[in-house]
Amino acid sequence: MDLGLQNKRAAVQGASSGLGFAIAKALADEGVRVVICSRDPSRIQAAARAIPHAHPLAIDLDSPGSGAQFVREAAGYLGGLDILITNSGGPPKGDFSALSSQDWDAGYHRLWRSAIESIREALPLMQSQRFGRILLSTSTAAKEPIPHLTISNAYRAGLLGLMKSLSQEVAPHNITVNALLPGFTRTKRMEDWGVPLDQIAKEIPLGRLAEPEEFGALAAFLASSKAAYITGQAIACDGGLLKSI
Ligand SMILES: NC(=O)c1ccc[n+]([C@@H]2O[C@H](COP(=O)([O-])OP(=O)(O)OC[C@H]3O[C@@H](n4cnc5c(N)ncnc54)[C@H](OP(=O)(O)O)[C@@H]3O)[C@@H](O)[C@H]2O)c1
Repeated sequence: MDLGLQNKRAAVQGASSGLGFAIAKALADEGVRVVICSRDPSRIQAAARAIPHAHPLAIDLDSPGSGAQFVREAAGYLGGLDILITNSGGPPKGDFSALSSQDWDAGYHRLWRSAIESIREALPLMQSQRFGRILLSTSTAAKEPIPHLTISNAYRAGLLGLMKSLSQEVAPHNITVNALLPGFTRTKRMEDWGVPLDQIAKEIPLGRLAEPEEFGALAAFLASSKAAYITGQAIACDGGLLKSI
């Protein structure tokens, strides 16, 4: 299937490894010109070398203003912007009683503020060209809480409200907005988490973790012209993990 993505322009956040990298690679393989960011200059430069024609930016999305800065610099480099992928590292983990106000502030900056700022910066560009694809990469935690990930569960559920509201507001401009809900996916974060992955795999109906490339393929489809009539949706790539209808 030709996804019609040739020469589109994308900005992908948190893309030196894992899910963000897989999305950027899937888009680039379809002919999209991508600008990618993460905190560590050497890691994001290495990622850019592994993705056709990718341009790296070292930006810490935890800093106020960084989401807008990323979109500004990416659009400047690309000469505009068609596709925006919001994504970052996970927020502090823990049960409610173990979390401080600083943890909640950090989670807000990481999961919310950088997304809001980057979307706000991208919208005028997309509106002026009457085309845009915005994908918020979140987690199945947005729909079904994961034990001990209180901040993630709380903020990611709220992001679906933002996604739905925004999708209604910008649909007249031919801009679609959707949320991607990765289930347990074999990335650096999962390997660093210290949870036995074979135990997790037993809880997943398909009996295994996802590969990042499977998640990247979903993103590429939703970013494409073939997905022009899909907006305001939260779509999981979770091997059947979510049980709700
Ligand atoms: N893997 C899963 O099973 C899974 C499932 C559901 C949700 N998620 C969520 O999806 C997101 C990505 O996870 P992942 O598994 O892809 O993790 P990962 O492999 O650790 O990748 C995270 C990426 O984000 C970058 N990053 C982290 N903090 C950043 C910041 N403040 N500013 C800019 N870039 C930042 C990292 O690069 P640098 O270190 O260079 O900054 C890296 O490129 C996380 O929020 C995670 O909680 C993951």
